[in-house]
Amino acid sequence: MRRLVIAVDGPAAAGKGTLAKALAARLALPYLDTGLLYRAVARRMINAGLDPAGDASKEATALLQEDLARTDLRVPEVDRGASLVAAQPAVRHALLERQRVFAAQTGAVVDGRDIGTVVFPDADVKFFITASPQARALRRHRQTQGEKVLDGEALAVAVAEITERDARDSSRETAPLLEAPDAIRIETDTLSAAEVLEKACKIISERCSVA
Ligand code: CDP
Ligand code: CDP
Repeated sequence: MRRLVIAVDGPAAAGKGTLAKALAARLALPYLDTGLLYRAVARRMINAGLDPAGDASKEATALLQEDLARTDLRVPEVDRGASLVAAQPAVRHALLERQRVFAAQTGAVVDGRDIGTVVFPDADVKFFITASPQARALRRHRQTQGEKVLDGEALAVAVAEITERDARDSSRETAPLLEAPDAIRIETDTLSAAEVLEKACKIISERCSVA
């Protein structure tokens, strides 16, 4: 069978990882969360007492498999640090081949920001998953804090953090967050994760005669 590469891009907390993981299980493909690569580089910088806005090329080159298994990669200072190191061309260059090699033999479902535009421009299907900043901030809050009520002020802070990160990711010169011209956009404000998965599977089966 053909080795499918499925690209899943979009802004923070849109549901990319949830969709990509479920698609990978459904299609029996490996899953790569490329955000973890940038997060692990940021973690190395922070742990070494360095500012993630400074040159992170050495840390990107030194990245190990174990770095990606760390549990402290999804905390606010790393959210921000990841988007600072990710804006550096030398960091992106150091991580590019590793992402391509991952899918070379087996195909893969890969999520990130530049998967359909830079990493796998020939991906079989490209999704751009998005939702309003409010919906995404609420989802990220529930994901990390459970159902604890978010007051208006805390929600405003969460929205501001997500908006700042999206703006940095979209405005950088190298491999910005960008919807590929041939991507299929799914707006998920009013869709459950299960509904997004069904929509995506239908599109893949129409285009690739699988799923
Ligand atoms: O990978 P990304 O940052 O884009 O988002 P995620 O971690 O997959 O999803 C953020 C949260 O939104 C998770 O708790 C999901 O269960 C939830 N969610 C979703 O993924 N899709 C929806 N349509 C609705 C909620
Ligand atoms: O899960 P969430 O969408 O919040 O973030 P992530 O996918 O883990 O990515 C963290 C950060 O890494 C992003 O804000 C981007 O700055 C960067 N990133 C990137 O530049 N390119 C990718 N392919 C993946 C992530």
